[in-house]
Parts: sequence; structure tokens; C-alpha cells
Amino acid sequence: MAEREREYAAGLTEAQARAQSQSGRVVKLNSNENPLGCSPAARIAMAHATMQAHRYPPAVAQELNVALAQRLGVAEECVVTTAGSVQLIELLLGLTCAGGRGEALSFAPCFPAFAHRAKIMGVEHRQVPLGSDFGMDLGALGQAVDERTRLVYVANPDNPTGRIVSRAELLDFARSLPKDTLLLVDEAYLDFADDPQAVSVLGVLDQVPHLGIIRTFSKAYGLAGARVGYGVLPVAIARELRTMQLPFAVSGPSIAGALAALTDEDFRRQSAELAREGRKYLQQELTRLGCEIVEGQGPFVMFRPQREAGKVFESLLKQGVAVRPLDYAGLPEWLRVSTGTQEDNEEFVKALGVALRE
Ligand SMILES: Cc1ncc(COP(=O)(O)O)c(C=O)c1O
Repeated sequence: MAEREREYAAGLTEAQARAQSQSGRVVKLNSNENPLGCSPAARIAMAHATMQAHRYPPAVAQELNVALAQRLGVAEECVVTTAGSVQLIELLLGLTCAGGRGEALSFAPCFPAFAHRAKIMGVEHRQVPLGSDFGMDLGALGQAVDERTRLVYVANPDNPTGRIVSRAELLDFARSLPKDTLLLVDEAYLDFADDPQAVSVLGVLDQVPHLGIIRTFSKAYGLAGARVGYGVLPVAIARELRTMQLPFAVSGPSIAGALAALTDEDFRRQSAELAREGRKYLQQELTRLGCEIVEGQGPFVMFRPQREAGKVFESLLKQGVAVRPLDYAGLPEWLRVSTGTQEDNEEFVKALGVALRE
């Protein structure tokens, strides 16, 4: 595999975007980050925790596991905390599929980190295309399951489309799977959904033994840089992952930040509200500017401009607005813009107007 193909296709960093901006500023709307930053309580807790930077954190972030278990109303043994949810994805691929034990299944496109980790770990990963309207057809996914399938990954809402499936559909789907096939539902963006169909499977985990969820502090809690994710998983799997996981994986400041973030529900609510309003505004404005949009539920909007997407991306970047090209997902005509503050969103719309006229 060529080195480039093996690299993870991340969005441009702020410094990379700045180097290409001709306007001296960057409106960073390419990685679905929280435009409000993080909770002040989390920031203070992380700053305090750096005083203990010379000490190892606990090998397993048990205090955070306990706090999450209490918050979610689940048994502590079901909770696993990792350095970002991508690490949990890697651990799960390792446990269920690596070494030729089985294969992974997801939609195409899916969250690129899932496909990337499978590729790098040499795990066979089959993908079922999304429907023509980018809908997630769980029936089609189910038909692709075979006796080697050990892990099925569904992000709800999905990335980059923002499409959702209902809890009832997920529950039926989980029940249809063989008992040794784990259905992993990634709820990274569920906080931002306002469709009543978008409901967590947390409340039904006890109904199916091979169903689990992963979540992250990177989005609604605004702690993407701190790298904290967690899973609520079948006990036997959670136990195994806690044993397998890299000792000290979640740093002391990150544990402190996540614990403090959990105490600031207002911040999470405010972040979700801002993203929902931003999404509505961006959907309206993109439509007004003649772009095709996917009506999703994430803190982002996927859109197809009438002009070549690559050219629009370049023009936006020169104007200081970074969005995400979706060629990595096999969608070269599409772009994805994250919701920002209202001011960010307006800057984007203004720059897009220019990009479309050039
Ligand atoms: C579907 C999905 N899951 C999870 C994440 C977050 O991953 P992490 O917790 O590693 O930051 C993202 C981030 O973009 C995502 O799009």
C-alpha cells in the first residue's frame, strides 16, 4: 500500500488552513468541532490537572467510568473509556475481527476512522452503499451479513450525511443479527439531532445482548483536543477491552476535563441548540444559493454546489473558510460544512456566494 493511501485523511488543521488563506483569518468549519470551545468548568479542571502532569493517571480511567455509569444509569462494568472513540473502534476491531477472526461491516461511506483502522489492522471490511438519497438501509446491511461478520458499525446520525435511523429499526436489526455479531451504534452526533425518531439505543441495550454504543466528548462537550471517548458495551466485551487497552491511555488532564464537563449540562445543551439553529440556517442558505443539500441531523450539512466542488473548496479556503471535501468518501461532487457560531455561518455563506460566482 502506498504511504499516502495508508494515512488517515484528516481535515486541514487551523495552521494548514491559515497557510492557504489569503484573508489572514480562518473560519474552521471542516472537522465538526464545537464552535463554543468547551465548558469553562472543564477548562479550569484541565488547567488544575496539569499541576499533576508528572504523575501517571490511573491505568484505567475508573473514576470517569463510574461517573459515566451513574449519569447513564448503566452498570459500571459495561463502560470503557478510551483516548477518543477512535481508540475504542480500534480495540473493538482488534477484539472481534483482527487476525482473521472475522470481518467488519458498515455502510459506504462511513466515518473514515472506522475504515482506516480496519485497513491498517488488516481487518477485512465490507461496505454496503448508502441508498440513492443517502439513507441507511438496514435491510440491505443485514443481507450483507454472513457467518464471518463479527462487527457491524452504524453511526447514528451518520457522518458525513447526517442521516438517521430510528431506535426501533436499530433494535429490529440488532435482533436479526447472529448472537456473536456485535452491532456497534456510534452516537457521536446524537446530541445535535432534533428529529423525534433519533433516539439513543442506550435504553434498550438490555434487550439485545450483542448491542453496544460508542460516544465521545469531542463534539457536544467540545473536548476534541483532550481525546476522550467511551463505550457502553456488553459486559464480557467491556471487560476484555479494559484488559486489552493501552494502560494510562486517557491522560490526567483529559480525565479531569471530562469529569468536569459532565457537571455542566447547560454547556452541552447550549452547544446542541447552537448547532441545530446553525444547521437550519445553513440548510436554508445553501438551498437559496442553489446547492443540493442532504437534510441530516448532525452539526454539519453535506451539500453539492452547482460548480465543481474542488474549485469551491479552493475558493473558500483562499477566502479563509475551511470546509471538508468529500472525495475521501467517494463523493467528489460534495462538500461538508460544520455548523459554527452564527457569525462563522454567515462568513461561510458570504464566501460561498463569491465562490459560486467566480
Ligand atoms: C461518526 C463519528 N464518530 C466519532 C467521532 C469522534 O471521534 P473521537 O471521539 O475519536 O474524537 C467522529 C468525529 O469526527 C465521528 O464523525
